[in-house]
Amino acid sequence: MSNAWSIYIIVLAVGNILAMVWLLVITNRDNGVEESETTGHKWDGIEELNNPLPRWWLGLFIITIIFAGIYLYLYPGLGSYKGSLDWSQMSEYRQARDANAETQAEFFAEFVDYDIAALSRSEKAMATGERLFANNCTTCHGSGGRGAKGFPNLTDNDWLYGNAPETILASIQNGRAGVMPNLNLNSATVAVLARYVQHLSGEEGISDHVIESGPKRFAICAACHGADGKGNQTIGAPNLTDDIWLHGGRVSDIENILRHGIQGNMPSFSSALNSNEIRLLAAYVISLSSSNNTDLSTTADGSDNPANGSNTTAEGE
Ligand code: HEC
Ligand code: HEC
Repeated sequence: MSNAWSIYIIVLAVGNILAMVWLLVITNRDNGVEESETTGHKWDGIEELNNPLPRWWLGLFIITIIFAGIYLYLYPGLGSYKGSLDWSQMSEYRQARDANAETQAEFFAEFVDYDIAALSRSEKAMATGERLFANNCTTCHGSGGRGAKGFPNLTDNDWLYGNAPETILASIQNGRAGVMPNLNLNSATVAVLARYVQHLSGEEGISDHVIESGPKRFAICAACHGADGKGNQTIGAPNLTDDIWLHGGRVSDIENILRHGIQGNMPSFSSALNSNEIRLLAAYVISLSSSNNTDLSTTADGSDNPANGSNTTAEGE
């Protein structure tokens, strides 16, 4: 704060207090008026009495003035004078932050020897993971991590990028940006492919025309989604055969994506959270989906092996 501002504020603050004192003094001066005499003001027959201030009110007034004096002595308020306690919002914040870092360090010290999978099985760690998730992730992934249109469900064992602990850690740490480009398809191709994608996901009642001409037109898609449509976790191309839809499974939803392309954006948390917190969150994400999956080990490798069974453990979203 510049000197001029500081002086300006001091003059205003002290001036105000002096003005209050002055007001008290003149209103209490015995002005020789008899009690209940009127001031002479009159409105529609109502007269204003000139009584002295009530005692209790006067008392409060004096207390506020004394309070202001003490407050301005102890705390910052008079321009750049810091107050005798040397209190500031920043020092308060630093104290709270240091205290928090200490409790956090204590908490994580208990888990130094845990890997992410072990963390995900610790009830105590997961209780904290749940709070971290609620504060940072539910805005997009929904409470409980069940996702929403455009935001993947993290509980369903269906993964864009895979659920190996390091992969989930990387998703949170570095963020993700899955891009499906606009492929400039003509409308006949869009119409056929939208139905063909539904056919891949197991929908019934698709016309023979679509089933026959689909595979040829799908060649351009295979580069990312794979010839069988099962997706590619290295680029986050979803599995199109599992009837789990990130962007909606209606013909109109799919046509929309084919016409305009689409991009998913998962922000990086490497600067907002420290590495302990990110590890804890990776473990929490694993705990969310492992309650739906009795044998985590079969999918811990990212499970792009269709031989390991049901399509809920296959890759892609
Ligand atoms: C601003 C919205 C947003 C926030 C906040 C967010 N995410 Fe995401 N997340 C996304 C989107 C969108 C995707 C899909 C990215 C894509 O399509 O490529 C995603 C993907 C992921 C994936 C990969 C899922 C898969 O199927 O492979 C994980 C894991 C994940 N998020 C965890 C988290 C965690 C943990 C947090 C909190 C620390 C979080 N996200 C916060 C939007 C968000
Ligand atoms: C360059 C790679 C690439 C190509 C080529 C590509 N896609 Fe995609 N596709 C993606 C990615 C990545 C996503 C996920 C976008 C996101 O993260 O939100 C996606 C998403 C989709 C979705 C949404 C799936 C869901 O779960 O909601 C559909 C449907 C789809 N693609 C169909 C197609 C079809 C049909 C073609 C061929 C015409 C095609 N894609 C070509 C990369 C590609």
